[in-house]
Amino acid sequence: MCIFDVWIGSADVYDIAFIVLARAIHVIAGVTWAGAMFLLAMAILPAARAAGGGPWFGALMRRVGPASGISALLTVLSGIYLFFGLHAHDATLGGWVLRAGAIAALLAMVLGFVLGRPAGLELARLQQSGEGTPEQRARIALLGRRVALSVRATAGLMLVSVLAMGVFRYVVALG
Ligand code: HEM
Repeated sequence: MCIFDVWIGSADVYDIAFIVLARAIHVIAGVTWAGAMFLLAMAILPAARAAGGGPWFGALMRRVGPASGISALLTVLSGIYLFFGLHAHDATLGGWVLRAGAIAALLAMVLGFVLGRPAGLELARLQQSGEGTPEQRARIALLGRRVALSVRATAGLMLVSVLAMGVFRYVVALG
């Protein structure tokens, strides 16, 4: 009996069909989220910086923001479901690697929502309205640095998470 059985009553929420569905959602959403963050950190942000920003960057962020936010939520919700159903009592090295990966992804999500999202939204709004006063330009520069910091830190945490998710099943064999 686990916490989900208590919530949902007698329905077996750990039926194999649910697990297959959750794994499918988890992997697709996780790949989308991590891929978006890697692309932002390695290609889009450096290109935006080299081009001196501009309205196109705001327009892009308004699409990338919701897509990566929804993927992050789906990854974390399906991951929590899989964790409590299949690995909650796993005290092997693999179980700890999995936990470390999950914590890295949770931190990445919190960082994205707390630092990256508000800075990105305000930056998009200011860039859309054009750079006016010197105060506005200074604000845009500050927000740009915040977005860059958030994206880089998020991408680093996601790298840890993706690596952990990919190897946790096999590290036990290392001895
Ligand atoms: C960057 C985000 C993430 C990515 C790309 C990702 C990717 C993956 C992949 C590819 C697997 C399959 C590994 C295998 O079966 O060998 C997996 C499994 C798993 N992930 Fe994640 N994951 C992410 C975040 C999370 C989070 C936040 C949690 C929990 C809160 C989590 C919990 C799990 C669990 C429990 C499994 C094992 C499922 C099973 O045994 O069927 N993951 N993940």
